[in-house]
Amino acid sequence: MAKLRTQVGIIGAGPAGLTLAHLLHLQGIESIVLERHTREYVETRVRAGVLEQGTVDVLCDSGVGARLKREGLQHQGIELRFDRSGHRIDFQELVGKSITVYAQQEVVKDLIAARLAYQALIYFEAEAARIENYENEPKIHYQHNGQSHVIACDFIAGCDGFHGICRPAIPANKLQIHEKYYPFAWLGILAQTPPASHELIYTYHERGFALLSMRSPEISRLYLQCAPEEDISLWPDERIWEELRTRMATQEGFVLKDGPILQKGITPMRSFVATPMQFGKLFLLGDAAHIVPPTGAKGLNLAVADVRVLTRGLVEFYQRGDREPLRQFTDRCLRRVWKCQRFSWWMTSMLHRFPDEDSFSHNIHHAELDYVASSRAASTTLAENYVGLPFDTPGLF
Ligand code: FAD
Ligand code: PHB
Repeated sequence: MAKLRTQVGIIGAGPAGLTLAHLLHLQGIESIVLERHTREYVETRVRAGVLEQGTVDVLCDSGVGARLKREGLQHQGIELRFDRSGHRIDFQELVGKSITVYAQQEVVKDLIAARLAYQALIYFEAEAARIENYENEPKIHYQHNGQSHVIACDFIAGCDGFHGICRPAIPANKLQIHEKYYPFAWLGILAQTPPASHELIYTYHERGFALLSMRSPEISRLYLQCAPEEDISLWPDERIWEELRTRMATQEGFVLKDGPILQKGITPMRSFVATPMQFGKLFLLGDAAHIVPPTGAKGLNLAVADVRVLTRGLVEFYQRGDREPLRQFTDRCLRRVWKCQRFSWWMTSMLHRFPDEDSFSHNIHHAELDYVASSRAASTTLAENYVGLPFDTPGLF
């Protein structure tokens, strides 16, 4: 059995694990990243698309933003659409900030390229099987090339997503779980057709939510609210386009041109928080600790915010021997996590059709959309949260 040693053992090469490994490297802190999938798999997995200004700053200021600056699409606002009309929320005018549309897998590619360029360790197809003794002398047991290996480390960063092994390693009676399921899911497509709008359109319709997003001037990303148990084989391409057109139609005759569908999938919707996010020398970051429904576009951004907090804590520990910032990891992360949970839950509730809506709920629902679209105060609240609340810890980046 091969034995390795490092300062921080990082499980998972998603946005959380890769960003953490990169920021630590810049601070002279050594880590090893383990990823159970292939490099190609993580570099092509289609997920998030919207980066907050703070996330863009972390990536650019840490030297991995060259392509993001070139290819990212900067957006100054979004459209809320209901009753067949659009209402623009102008982020720039309301809060002086913008967001950037740049695919998660592109962020992942940029971070992997940087790590390989400075020859730091990252193993693909290396599945962590279990973690051990994370209160004193942490060890990660993993499989790679058909062999068992162990990494001894000072700390373990559980960046292994919602279905990883780190959160379940914490005794159930020490963890508090807060969760909420929604009675719907999203059917998402990636299509080879120019986006029908240059900004994102969030649509509420009696038949359900629809979202128009994009990946480039040639590629559209679109989502439709569907049932959680929806059978995707019942959604041939033509039916998807038809439903999108019905939900997104406007009085002015909005045109949605179809094109070849390159990928389709169903995403369940849930809100989930596990606390504490640390146990001894094990830290949980990103989706390993919390999930938000994607309507607020917050998941990846929250993962990066957790990474900033842990990086700060580890730097204080290694450079000054100060353990206090590490002790505060959970509390610092959770302040942001709960605000993003609230925003994501609110956006989801406002924009989706609930199966049990009676006429009272329906009218309240409608009044809320109308209020947000017509009140400067309410639009500002949406804008302030959507572009990303300010970080409350002094940044390394
Ligand atoms: P993950 O990306 O899940 O990475 C975890 C990694 O750990 C994976 O690569 C996995 O293979 C690996 N792993 C797991 N177990 C092991 C193991 N035992 N050993 C080794 N490796 C392991 N967020 C936004 O901010 N903006 C958006 O616009 C947005 N849109 C979204 C749209 C959709 C359809 C979906 C599904 C999500 C969206 N999100 C969005 C959320 C975002 O994609 C996630 O929050 C983000 O991927 C979290 O990153 P992570 O690194 O914590 O976890
Ligand atoms: C995306 O482009 O994938 C996307 C955009 C906004 C969201 C969720 C997903 O709220």
